[in-house]
Parts: sequence; C-alpha cells; structure tokens
Amino acid sequence: MLSETKLNVLKQISEDLSRDEAIWASGYLAGIAGVTSLIAALPPQQLNNSTQNAVKKITLAYGTETGNSKKLATALAGIVKKKGLQVKLADLSQYKPKDLAKEEFFFIVISTQGEGEPPALAKKFYDYIHENEIDLSGLKYGVLALGDSSYPLFCQTGEDVDLRFEILGAQRIIPIRKCDIDYEQEASHWIEHVVETVNKNADQSSKNAATPKVSTGRKKYQGKVSAIINLNDITSEKETYHIEIETEEALAYQPGAALGIIPFNSKSVVDEIITLTGIDSQKQIQTAKVTASVEELLHKHLNISYLLKSVVAQYAKITGHSIPEVRLSLLDLLRIYPVKNADEFEEIIQIVTAQAPRLYSISSSLEAHGDTEIHITVAKSEFFIDHQKHNGLCSGFLSEFKEGEEVEFYIQDAGHFKLPEADKDIIMIGPGTGIAPFRSFLWERDATGAEGRNWLFFGDRNFVSDFLYQAELQDFLKTGSLTHLDLAFSRDTNEKVYVQHRLEQKAQEVFYWLEGGASVYVCGAKEPMARDVEQTLLTIIQNEGKRSKEDAVNYLEEMELDGRYAKDVY
Ligand SMILES: Cc1cc2nc3c(=O)[nH]c(=O)nc-3n(C[C@H](O)[C@H](O)[C@H](O)COP(=O)(O)OP(=O)(O)OC[C@H]3O[C@@H](n4cnc5c(N)ncnc54)[C@H](O)[C@@H]3O)c2cc1C
Ligand SMILES: Cc1cc2nc3c(=O)[nH]c(=O)nc-3n(C[C@H](O)[C@H](O)[C@H](O)COP(=O)(O)O)c2cc1C
Repeated sequence: MLSETKLNVLKQISEDLSRDEAIWASGYLAGIAGVTSLIAALPPQQLNNSTQNAVKKITLAYGTETGNSKKLATALAGIVKKKGLQVKLADLSQYKPKDLAKEEFFFIVISTQGEGEPPALAKKFYDYIHENEIDLSGLKYGVLALGDSSYPLFCQTGEDVDLRFEILGAQRIIPIRKCDIDYEQEASHWIEHVVETVNKNADQSSKNAATPKVSTGRKKYQGKVSAIINLNDITSEKETYHIEIETEEALAYQPGAALGIIPFNSKSVVDEIITLTGIDSQKQIQTAKVTASVEELLHKHLNISYLLKSVVAQYAKITGHSIPEVRLSLLDLLRIYPVKNADEFEEIIQIVTAQAPRLYSISSSLEAHGDTEIHITVAKSEFFIDHQKHNGLCSGFLSEFKEGEEVEFYIQDAGHFKLPEADKDIIMIGPGTGIAPFRSFLWERDATGAEGRNWLFFGDRNFVSDFLYQAELQDFLKTGSLTHLDLAFSRDTNEKVYVQHRLEQKAQEVFYWLEGGASVYVCGAKEPMARDVEQTLLTIIQNEGKRSKEDAVNYLEEMELDGRYAKDVY
C-alpha cells in the first residue's frame, strides 16, 4: 500500500508516539483520508454490518401440489427483486430444513391439500419442522397460505406452519395471509408488506448490530409449584387450574407471552410398556436428540401418547403387522400389534418422535406479581376412546401437580400479542382459558396505572360454576382498571349465548372504540370461537361503518397489519 520509504517514515514517527498521540494521529490521518477510507479502516465486524445494510436478502420458499404456489412465488420473487432486495427462490421439496437456522428472513407460500394436509412434496419439510425441536429464534418469517374456502380446513397447512415456526421461536414479522382461489390481489398486497417490513427490520438490525446476539437456544427456567387451584366449582363438568410457579432466578416476559413446557408420560404407562416388550429399563439408548435409559426416554423425551400416522406406518413396516392408517398411543399399539422381542422394540424407540412442548398463555404480570413468580391457567382437556374418558397429556400432567413439585419451563415471546401504549384502549375477547393473557394484561395495566380503557368479553358454560377469576375481575371493575365487562354463559339460558353475541349487542359502542384507535385481542379456541368472533367483528364494521363486505375485510386487515387486531388461538 505504502512505498518502502513512506512506510519507514511512518514507522519512525509511530515508534516515539505515546498512546494518546497515536490515537490523535489515527484520527488526523482518517480525517485526511475522508469517509471512504474510514470504512476501510473499520474492523471486519462493522464492515460486514454496513455491507449487510446495503444487501437485504430474503428466501421465498414454496410448497405446491398443482403448481399455483410455485407460479405465484416465482412472480412474487420478480417483484421483490425490482424493489431492490435479493431473493432466493426455494422449492420446499428440495429445501433442507436444517438450513433454516442459517436464514434471517424466510417467507413461505404454501397450499393446503387433502383434508387440511400439506402438499405431498412439502410433507417432508412439514413433518420435519413438526417433529423436531429446532431452534428458530434467529429467524424472521411470514406465511402466505393458499387454499379454497369451500374446504372445511381452509388454509390449514399455512396456519400449521405459521404456528409451528412461532412455537420453534421464530419471529413472525408479518401476520399470515390466507388466500382463496382468486389469490392474485391478496398475494400482491402480501409481498408489498414483506418488502416494507424487511426494509424496516434490516434497518433495525443494522442499528443493533454492534452487539451481535449469540443464540444459545431457549432459556430453561427451573421452578416450584407454589399454588394450584381448580377455578371451577365442584358442580362444574370442567376443571381449569390456576397454577403458580416460583423461581429462584428472575424471569423476563411481557404480558401476552406464553409458558412452554414438555410434559412427562405417566410412570405406570412406561412400566407397562417395559413389561410388555421385555426390554431392560436401564439400557442406555442413543436417539437423534438424547442418550438416556429406556425408562427415562419413555418417561421424559418421547411422544408415546399419540403417535403420528407416519410413525404407526413405520411401526407396521418394522414389525411386519398389517396396521390401518391410524393415530394411537404406543401402549395401545403394542397391546394390539406386539413386538417380537426387546431388540425389535429398540428399533421402534428410534422411530418415535420427540415429545412436543405445549404452550400456556401466562396469566400473571411481572409488574404486579414480581419477577420470581409466574401463573398459568390450564383447562384439563378430555377426550373419549371407546366411551372411556382420557385426559390430554400435558393438561393432565399439570393438573396433577402438587405444591412444592419441581417443573422446568421456558418462555415463548409475546410476538404480535402484546399491549399497546398505556393510553390506548383495548377490547379483549377471551372465553374459557382465553382469559389467561387478559388477566396478565389487566394486572399489568393496573400495576402501571395505564390510562387506556379496558373492555373484557368473557364467557363459559355456567355463571355459578365456571366464572374464572370472578372475584378478581369484580375487584378490577370496582377500582376502574376494568372499564367494561360483558359476560356470556352459554348454558344458563335456553338459547346458547356466546361472546360473539355480546359483541353483536354492543356493536355501536364496539365500532366507536375501533374508530377511536382501540386494539382488539382474541384468545382461546380457534374453532369455532375465533372464527365466529371474527365474522361478528366484520359484520359490525360493515353495518356500523356502512362499508361493503370487502371494505370491512380490508378494515380488519389494516388493523391486523397495524398490530391493532391480534389473535392467540389454539
Ligand atoms: C399459543 C397457545 C397458547 C395456549 N394457551 C393455553 C392456555 O392458556 N390454557 C390452556 O389450557 N391451553 C392453552 N393452549 C393449549 C395447550 O397448549 C394444549 O394444546 C392443551 O393443553 C392440550 O394439550 P394436552 O397435552 O393436554 O393434550 P394432548 O395430549 O396433546 O391431546 C390433544 C388432543 O389430541 C387427541 N389425542 C391425544 N392423545 C390421543 C390418543 N391416545 N388417542 C386419540 N386421541 C388422542 C385428543 O383429541 C386430545 O384432546 C395454548 C396453545 C397455544 C398454541
Ligand atoms: C384434492 C384437493 C384437496 C384440497 N384440500 C384443501 C383443504 O383442505 N383446504 C384448503 O384450504 N384448500 C384445499 N384445496 C385447495 C388448494 O389449496 C388450492 O387449490 C390451491 O390454490 C392449490 O395450490 P397449489 O397448486 O400450490 O398446491 C384442495 C385442493 C385439492 C385439489
């Protein structure tokens, strides 16, 4: 770079410089050289950041059966390029899911086939993300779902992928958009939104880039159950548990976040499996994710309670039994179609998928309850097989906790489901356990003295036995933290009344709040509650706002894009 003579002069001068003089001299030289050479003098870390700022790169992946998603994704990639972003087009049938961890911006166009199933060629990708606990905390994503609203499970695959990415820790930077058969216009709005959001995000990440975040996977917390209370009256057919967990370590979460937990299988089921197969319970076995004794694998790590159809099919192949396409528990499978011996069962252990975490909306607030206590609200789920009652694995597991028992969990960020600024009004619609995040919202707003108004729509079966958190809600009403409370108890009257009916009755006021900038949150059962509530909101916007059906849809979509309409439904 420098001639030998100049280099010698520079060396001679620098030898005699004090530290401060050297710093001054470097600034002096930089000043002479101007900005361009300053960039050259930046450490590689900063240089990369500046370059990154100029090149924003996204991956646009598609999953297709009949070609619509591919055609669309290809056209959308062209638009992205024209807007100045780099784009990699990827077919999900070819895409290695392990590469997800290397992506920053990942967008998916995917259709739904069969009865709410992924396109055949995207199934491998779909199964992989659902069966593996990959850490996607560094990924920002969005989903464009293609479907046909004449099918009962409209855009189910897109929804599944969207939710699964969230569960795996990825950050949804734009809400899912579900398109019917005439998808072109919807899709072009979606891609505009993608470009706009990526530009905003890239600016933000280059601002934050000075302190690169090293991903260390999900942070696990150890806690002890400090209280467990059935919120339903003894006369109720339901059991909903308010569970408080104490930790030694300080917790960090926002209202709207969820607690993730991996349930354990019952010891008696594990013992029965061991007896049936004759396997040595203490034998150490290495699976794709963990090495542990057979007993520990079955108790803590594997999904044995409800095998996927694909696992049952593999089981049939290994054992040579002819088994119909079904989902059932490993114990039932072993009872009906036994393995030949312990060695064959070892092969079966290798095909059983890892236990999936379950999420529960956090119902406490750091501001109100401190940072070493966290609450959840768990409905004990039940289902019937041959008229025999069974309980869901995790909700059953949690409902049997005793005070003092230890529990490991992690926090799933609130994402889009979070409180607006303190002075903004909110409408919360949360029947059943949908109340959980709203209890957190209310405690938070109460503790921080937020001035925005809070309106809650709550419902369940019976007023007397199923009014969850009744005393607290009435206190919040008295103190004014809860400004409006509307209740719908479906089984108290001859005609069933649900939250959407209460919304309908308050249509004028609801619309007035929306026009005034209120945010609307819906939490609880996806079907039919969230669908019916959305339909009611659209009708309100249409009737009260004197808008066409299409304009009402756009109105709600705009709210969603602005973060003023958020759903946490399951
Ligand atoms: C973001 C989010 C927030 C949530 N918040 C809450 C909350 O606040 N409170 C809450 O209670 N829940 C919440 N959930 C739901 C919760 O995560 C669980 O899905 C729910 O508790 C059921 O899980 P489970 O393990 O008890 O049931 P699972 O064991 O997973 O069973 C679920 C269903 O699968 C079927 N099934 C399972 N095993 C078998 C079998 N052997 N044979 C036949 N069918 C079977 C049954 O239909 C059963 O009902 C939330 C979910 C999400 C995604
Ligand atoms: C056999 C079949 C089953 C389908 N099942 C569903 C479904 O369950 N839900 C849905 O929303 N759309 C369903 N669709 C509609 C497709 O998702 C829709 O036609 C889409 O545009 C196809 O996109 P693709 O060519 O990218 O696969 C189905 C289509 C076919 C042909």
